[in-house]
Amino acid sequence: MRLSQQNLSFSSEELDIRSSRLLSLITYPHYSECEYKARITEMEALGITSIILGDGNAIVNNTRIAGKGCVGIVVKAKLGRDKVCALKIRRTDADRKTMDNEAYFHRMANSIGVGPRLEEHTKNLIAMEFVSGMSIIDWVTGDDDSNNNNKNKNNKKAEKSNLYNIATAILEQCFSLDLAGLDHGELSRLARHVIVSERPHIIDFESASTTRKTCNVTAAAQSIFLYGLLADRVRKIGGSNIDREKAIRALKTYKHSHTRVNFDAALNALMER
Ligand SMILES: Nc1ncnc2c1ncn2[C@@H]1O[C@H](COP(=O)(O)OP(=O)(O)OP(=O)(O)O)[C@@H](O)[C@H]1O
Ligand SMILES: [Mg+2]
Repeated sequence: MRLSQQNLSFSSEELDIRSSRLLSLITYPHYSECEYKARITEMEALGITSIILGDGNAIVNNTRIAGKGCVGIVVKAKLGRDKVCALKIRRTDADRKTMDNEAYFHRMANSIGVGPRLEEHTKNLIAMEFVSGMSIIDWVTGDDDSNNNNKNKNNKKAEKSNLYNIATAILEQCFSLDLAGLDHGELSRLARHVIVSERPHIIDFESASTTRKTCNVTAAAQSIFLYGLLADRVRKIGGSNIDREKAIRALKTYKHSHTRVNFDAALNALMER
């Protein structure tokens, strides 16, 4: 059932980081006093003063927050007096001990203009630019599950030209990542890794690598246009006249050699207008 169909009411509220109501979020999913104290100290070191609940489309402990994954939960927070940021808090059961690697690759992505701007990080936390938007799959269909009213403005289905502009912007970012030798690693699960606001933002660099062969463009292009739920929805808007064989051939050529010419040929094959 969609969250919006549940009879739950959420209002936005800002809580001091030491509020007892945040105990179980800060140490999600297993509270321990020692872990809690360490995380409060880290928040203070980063300059995080409060956490804002009630906004976003994930629900943890009956509370609406920005997001939840296998590694972290993401909440809206205040940095200093009034700078809003997204705070990714390492889950206590995450399969990694620190956020260091993720922050390292995230900063690398930022250096080529990709990803929400990373502010600072500590062992268990990453503070970054808050992206107010929708996951790409909800954006394509115009679904807005969150309390946030700064979403797909008219809450309606993306139109073909707009859809192609967003798809092109995503693939351009992927091309920059490919050229920089930074493989995101999860762009075949694009729905969880792109938030669309005024423009698309690629998020979550925890699985990135500089040693793997880069396949950002091919993974994202397949996810948007060729295989899976997102591609099905995109095809309904873009029309099913995409020549799949031609698109697959163009992506193979690009995969073999990451040149601008091959990239442009792939874009043309995927989005014949
Ligand atoms: N900068 C941000 N601004 C706003 N929301 C964000 C931001 N970063 C992440 N989110 C939200 O939080 C969710 C989880 O974030 P993220 O993907 O980084 O966590 P994860 O634990 O690595 O997830 P996964 O298990 O999918 O890899 C995202 O899907 C998104 O909805
Ligand atoms: Mg992740």
